[in-house]
Amino acid sequence: MRFNPITILRKKTANTHDMPPKEKLPRHIAFIMDGNGRWATKRGLPRSAGHAAGTEALREIIRTCSDIGIESMSIYAFSTENWGRSAEEVGALMKLISRYFVSEIDELNEKNVKITIMGELDPFPEEQKASLVNAMEITKANTGLKLNIALNYGGRAEIVRAARLLAQSCADGMLKPSEISGEKLSELMYTAGQPDVDLLIRTGGDERVSNFMLWQGWYAELIFEKTYWPDYSKATLIKNLNEYASRERRFGKVKK
Ligand code: FPP
Repeated sequence: MRFNPITILRKKTANTHDMPPKEKLPRHIAFIMDGNGRWATKRGLPRSAGHAAGTEALREIIRTCSDIGIESMSIYAFSTENWGRSAEEVGALMKLISRYFVSEIDELNEKNVKITIMGELDPFPEEQKASLVNAMEITKANTGLKLNIALNYGGRAEIVRAARLLAQSCADGMLKPSEISGEKLSELMYTAGQPDVDLLIRTGGDERVSNFMLWQGWYAELIFEKTYWPDYSKATLIKNLNEYASRERRFGKVKK
């Protein structure tokens, strides 16, 4: 753990829960990392300090997911709606995200993590776009944790994009409308080839999915944590994984 004021401010919680057995773990976990702003405001700090602290929490959670053998992890880092925040906050977030990709890429690569960016990258500044494309390129052959980072992302926009691609294939005579299936749509999502989301965790106390992974999360188990994201730790994750392991998933069927 790095020695900096943000690291010290992040609450430390004891690791009191044991991890559930591997077969009870979700294959794909999605995180809505909410509460950075409130975490900072509560401490009299600018919102950007909350995002910086949130980046520390993210580091710990990526490491843990990779170490325990989670197949896919998706994070909501910047939504299409987040452009509506102050120029100062958007600028601070952009800086953090670019720096993150520069400072973490070696460790992520060593850990065999494969990075996928979900979202439309065109509106990002050139320098940042280059660091994102570079992160995907460097890690593209990795076979460990698949880390999907949603940037300028919206769940509906992702479905619309897939629908357009299918329509184009039909117009080109490559596909018949009757051949369109759920599987075909899944292949056109950013997460093609990955399992659907088993567990969606949202921190910060609000209980909604906010346009995140609407297609992949169709049968996701939902956990809403009151904890603000910067205070989310390995111990909280283990608690959430135990909650997930205790649930009965029926996928619309009846219990056997
Ligand atoms: C929501 O909290 C969080 C975000 C909009 C940004 C999430 C970004 C990070 C955790 C760090 C950067 C990401 C990477 C990939 C390095 P909020 O600001 O809406 O909090 P509030 O609800 O308390 O206002």
